[in-house]
Amino acid sequence: MQTSLYKQLIENNRNWVKQKLSLDENFFKKLAKGQQPPLLWIGCSDSRVPANELIGAQPGEVFVHRNIANMVIHTDMSMLSVLDYAVNVLKVKHIIVCGHYGCGGIKAAMGNQHVGIIDNWIRHIKDVYRYHHQELDLITEETKRFDRFVELNIVEQVCDLAKTSIVQSSWDNNQELSIHGWVYDVGSGLVKDLEVNFSNNDDLGDVYQLDFLK
Ligand code: CO
Repeated sequence: MQTSLYKQLIENNRNWVKQKLSLDENFFKKLAKGQQPPLLWIGCSDSRVPANELIGAQPGEVFVHRNIANMVIHTDMSMLSVLDYAVNVLKVKHIIVCGHYGCGGIKAAMGNQHVGIIDNWIRHIKDVYRYHHQELDLITEETKRFDRFVELNIVEQVCDLAKTSIVQSSWDNNQELSIHGWVYDVGSGLVKDLEVNFSNNDDLGDVYQLDFLK
């Protein structure tokens, strides 16, 4: 069973190449020259939230980092490396943090079940609950509380993105860079802009604002 699935993937790839070439015979030749995507996407690893597809982006149009629950964790070298490359080399103009309703990582953070090493990742999401527990604890209906927690986590990740030295430094250099938070509804396919936008570090709490030596 698994072998046939595996073989099918290669077959699918061949068909995809044929389809792309039928529309543009130079499609891959152009891509081979390099990339200059205008956008970095930080999303959840969830298989239902395919970054390129849901925004209609073609290969070459979006730089992507995905992890469980679209987290921006300041000691995560993988996220920092993607962010650094996107901002300082590719010079992306926009970064979108996109979470989604029904996120398993957020659901786990609401509960107390020990899962494994992932508990330590989920712990960061529990911090978001703690920051917002007054609002969240007032929502008696669990599904509504879950949805709101998903949204608040996205807002916090956008704030954490703004706090990184990489993003603040780009603003200090007058680089054009806006960061945004979106929530995706897996049941409708639609995204909603949560309208948490930053474009300079004045919007951050004083303690987070970095002064850069000239
Ligand atoms: Co998720």
